[in-house]
Amino acid sequence: MKVENDIISIGGVKAAELAETYGTPTYVYDESRIRENYRRALSAFQEYYPDFRFFYAVKACNNPAIVSILKSEGAGIDAASVNEILLAGKVGLGGEEVMFSGNFLSDDDIERGLESGVIFNLDDPSILPRVLKQGKPEIISFRVNPGYGKSNVGDFVTNAGPDAKFGVHPDRVMAAYKAAKDAGIKRFGAHMMPGSCITDPEYFSFITKLLMDIIGAAAKELSIDFEFIDLGGGLGIPYKHDEKGLDIKKAAKLVADTFTAKIAEYALKPPRLMMEPARYFVGDAGYIVGRVHSIKDSYKRIIGMDIGMNTLARPAMYGSYHHIYVDGKESASRARVGLCGQLCENTDFWVRERELPANIAEGDIVVVENAGAYGYSMSYQYNGRLRPAEVLVNDGRHALIRKREEFEDMVRSTTIPDWLAAE
Ligand SMILES: Cc1ncc(COP(=O)(O)O)c(C=O)c1O
Repeated sequence: MKVENDIISIGGVKAAELAETYGTPTYVYDESRIRENYRRALSAFQEYYPDFRFFYAVKACNNPAIVSILKSEGAGIDAASVNEILLAGKVGLGGEEVMFSGNFLSDDDIERGLESGVIFNLDDPSILPRVLKQGKPEIISFRVNPGYGKSNVGDFVTNAGPDAKFGVHPDRVMAAYKAAKDAGIKRFGAHMMPGSCITDPEYFSFITKLLMDIIGAAAKELSIDFEFIDLGGGLGIPYKHDEKGLDIKKAAKLVADTFTAKIAEYALKPPRLMMEPARYFVGDAGYIVGRVHSIKDSYKRIIGMDIGMNTLARPAMYGSYHHIYVDGKESASRARVGLCGQLCENTDFWVRERELPANIAEGDIVVVENAGAYGYSMSYQYNGRLRPAEVLVNDGRHALIRKREEFEDMVRSTTIPDWLAAE
């Protein structure tokens, strides 16, 4: 994104042109930025551990155009559900290019996961017998809860440790792999996902050590090899302008050093090292272009616009910060205002106070930064405020990649029972 003479452009296209062409609110993704982010991270990790691979966690931004960009860069897919497996299939990825890390799987999830031949990454050993009842996966991985988690998104996204719902307790990991081995499984992987949006490189080597000590002990005791070790996602991005970003090279080196030291310590056959980030690839490549509709002076000045918690849930859900720009007015003097969307919920007052251009006015175009991850994919239709459009930009080109929802999308799957229709 660029602000030149106060005029905002994204991927070489003016925000005003995007608003005019596609309406507001619209999610806009910069293809070049996604590719840059991916390549920067991949080259860092491959420099220090060549047998390294990324699987993209599609939950963060599941538009097939975005997923196909990551596929073209060489990523596999981390899928949380059968529908995300189908999404991977839509862009041509299947089988062991897809890791199925679902939670509390239903029998139907298991059946369809087995049919698709994806890697099963089980959240608990109790699921294994239900999987084996339906078939034998070629490869089994367990999601380990290494007893520690961390997050820059408050406690909300701490995915491991005693209070997390995810993963296998360290004391049960050995028994989990033993059960899989006893059932005739011959290929193994291991996984964890202890936190999100971490910008401290040392965290990644710390969690690598935790997992490798658990896995190293299991490998030795059970005489099994691990084909891959997946450290999860969590590569962070700065949301506030005074925050420091992640030194990816440092993180990669620290992880690789710890990983290779642990391979030697436990005399492991070197596994493939994997990670499954999402935010790092797409977070700062996505924006929301919206419009101010009215301004009211009440207990404070409130700017009412068409971006609300239905469009971007993170601020109301996690208290997250997103920087906001006003097109054409960035160099104006500042005043403290609040920002709201259009929902009948006071949590939709999603910026309680922020310094914005004092001359902000009805009709102005606003741009919300760092909205590419957990943005559109967490949006919803409450109050009949339907989901926005999605647009891809690249070097001056732009294309619609998802239509704005219409009334028909709100009622498409509904039916009125006969006895009511007859009334
Ligand atoms: C299992 C799993 N893997 C990967 C990710 C991606 O995390 P991030 O966007 O922090 O990289 C998530 C996010 O919640 C996840 O649940």
